[in-house]
Amino acid sequence: MTASNNNPNTQMKFEGFSKLNMAERREKLKEFCALTDAEIDILSGRAGLSIDQAEFLIENVVGLFSLPLGIATHFKIDGEEFAIPMVVEETSIVAGASAAAKWVHRNGGFKTQSLGNLVIGQVQFPTVANPEAFVKTLTEHKDLLLKHANSVVPRLVERGGGIQDIQIRLIDRPDTKTMAVLHILCNPCDAMGANIINQVCESLKSPLEELTGEKIGLCILSNLVDTKLVEARCEIKDIEPELAEAIVEATLFANLDPYRAATHNKGVLNGIDPILIATGNDWRAVEAGIHAYSLMESNKGKRSITNWIYENSTLKGSLKIPMAVGVVGGVTKIHPTARVCLKMMGIQHAEQLAKVCAAVGLAQNFAALRALCSEGIIQGHMKLHAANLALAAGATQSEAREVQKILSGETKISFSRAQEVLSEVRNAVKQ
Ligand code: MEV
Repeated sequence: MTASNNNPNTQMKFEGFSKLNMAERREKLKEFCALTDAEIDILSGRAGLSIDQAEFLIENVVGLFSLPLGIATHFKIDGEEFAIPMVVEETSIVAGASAAAKWVHRNGGFKTQSLGNLVIGQVQFPTVANPEAFVKTLTEHKDLLLKHANSVVPRLVERGGGIQDIQIRLIDRPDTKTMAVLHILCNPCDAMGANIINQVCESLKSPLEELTGEKIGLCILSNLVDTKLVEARCEIKDIEPELAEAIVEATLFANLDPYRAATHNKGVLNGIDPILIATGNDWRAVEAGIHAYSLMESNKGKRSITNWIYENSTLKGSLKIPMAVGVVGGVTKIHPTARVCLKMMGIQHAEQLAKVCAAVGLAQNFAALRALCSEGIIQGHMKLHAANLALAAGATQSEAREVQKILSGETKISFSRAQEVLSEVRNAVKQ
């Protein structure tokens, strides 16, 4: 289903981008994102992460692994237009995000907000003999503990971040004893915060054991950062009521059924993970947090991390997720491509990156639901995927384009059909 452009004044910087060839796309990107020739070289793969740099990142390095880097276009987020770098292997994700973003752009774009800026470190006491006395001691010494914790991260405190609070949770164990977990809440500023919070938690181990007389088990961050949520919203007016209602119904399906929720939420992560990878962020941490958050929210009947409602002839979408990402520290500063990707989006702060991820996740969910509620997912996807099938069947790049052109007019697209069409293409050349 298509929509008409009801706002002729809507300017889209990247109009026609997908029709350009690769060299033209790079030129356009260079122009609009103020990239240098050297940065374009990094994106193109002519430069980028060297094997020597890789040797420092992980252990036992023997090589590098490549994935496509595409640009999702037409994203208007909080009034600004973004080119979104996406590193992903799956056909139709970039096209789906761009098409959804274009639709939302015509309707005013995405609006986002951060809800909290704290990451959580956990210090666990497997059992505490006297929970009441334990809570009393810690409450009395809270200021001292905060002071100690912040002394471990003086630079972070100087930048306006640091440890803001310590909370105590008591958990009943199956053996009727009591477990205690301290939540150390830290504002990591523009870092993702994993190393910072783990360091702080471990530094608290001796003072806490001395103070309480209890033994500590694990000291580690929690990926369920419900203290650092981000929200994206959009409104779509130019949509057929049947499609809007079907999208609302699809959301109900995800809320009621965990089997559907897993796939629905995976569709959202199709938008988020590729940006996290492009910017050198820990996508496993974000995935873990989002799935755990969805599980926690399922008590309130909300398994879907997005929500779609249809009122006053407007489809209104929202997404709320935990999002601990960074633009300093970790790989982000070392990986040359990650640095260019952040520059491309004009991102200087972790909060901006989290907001962009949320908007793209919501767009990706809209793209998936729109397709599922109309022509189905396979038609558009297989048309784009047909060239990959041809390549897998041994086609050259120009043959693959030819096979794709022929298959795009067919209803059943498969590997064996791609093989057949490839032989037809080759026979036609011989004649
Ligand atoms: C495929 O990568 C993602 C979808 O399955 C998401 C969804 O079902 O909502 C299409």
